[in-house]
Amino acid sequence: MVNPRDDLASTAMADVIRSRRTSMVCDREREVPAEVIDRLCELATWAPNHKRTWPWRFAAFSGEGRMRLGEACRLDLTEAGSTDEGKLTKVATKYGRTPSVLVIGCAPDDHPTFHDENRDAVAAGIQNLLLAATAEGLASYWSTAPLLEGRHTLELCGFEAGVRVIGIVYLGWAESAPAPVERPPVEVRHITR
Ligand SMILES: Cc1cc2nc3c(=O)[nH]c(=O)nc-3n(C[C@H](O)[C@H](O)[C@H](O)COP(=O)(O)O)c2cc1C
Repeated sequence: MVNPRDDLASTAMADVIRSRRTSMVCDREREVPAEVIDRLCELATWAPNHKRTWPWRFAAFSGEGRMRLGEACRLDLTEAGSTDEGKLTKVATKYGRTPSVLVIGCAPDDHPTFHDENRDAVAAGIQNLLLAATAEGLASYWSTAPLLEGRHTLELCGFEAGVRVIGIVYLGWAESAPAPVERPPVEVRHITR
C-alpha cells in the first residue's frame, strides 16, 4: 500500500505517466517473457470497473502466433468485403513488428449502460497496462483493431461471443526513450460554491 504522503512514489508515478509514449521502437529480437505479459495484464485488472463485471479479456501473441493473428484479421476484413490488396497484406504482416502483441477485449453486458461502462473500464485497464509497461522499460503502442468483432480474431483469441476488441497493443523492449510531446495547457474549472 502506497502511503498517500509519499512524495517519492507520487513523483515516480508522475514520471511514468509523463514518459509513456506511443512507440514501437524496440529490440525486435528480444522476447518479452510470458511472466512480464502476465504481470502487465494483472495490473490492468486493478482499473475501476462498475458492478464488478471484470470485463477485460486478454490474448497474448508472440513468435508465429503473431502471423496467425494477422491472418485472422485478414480473413475478417475479407469477409467484411475488403478487396484492398495492399491493406490486406499489411494487416496480415504488421503484428510481426514487435516481439509481443496483446489483444484486449471487452465483455458485453445485457444492460446498455453497463455495456458502455465495460468499455470505459477496459480502456482504463489498458492505460494501467501501458504505464506498467513503461515502468518495465517496454515500448508500447495502442492500436485499433481492423475490426472490433471479427469472428476469426475472436475465435483465435478464445474470447466468448459478443466480446469487442478494444485495443491491440504492441510491446517490445524500448531501444530509446521517445521525446515527450507538448500537451496543450489544461484548463480546469473549479466550482466551489
Ligand atoms: C483508443 C485509441 C486507439 C488508438 N488507435 C491507434 C491506431 O489505430 N493507430 C495508431 O497509430 N495509433 C493509435 N492510437 C495511439 C494514438 O495515436 C497516440 O496515443 C497519439 O498519437 C498520442 O501519442 P502519445 O500516446 O505518444 O502521447 C490509439 C490511441 C487510443 C487511445
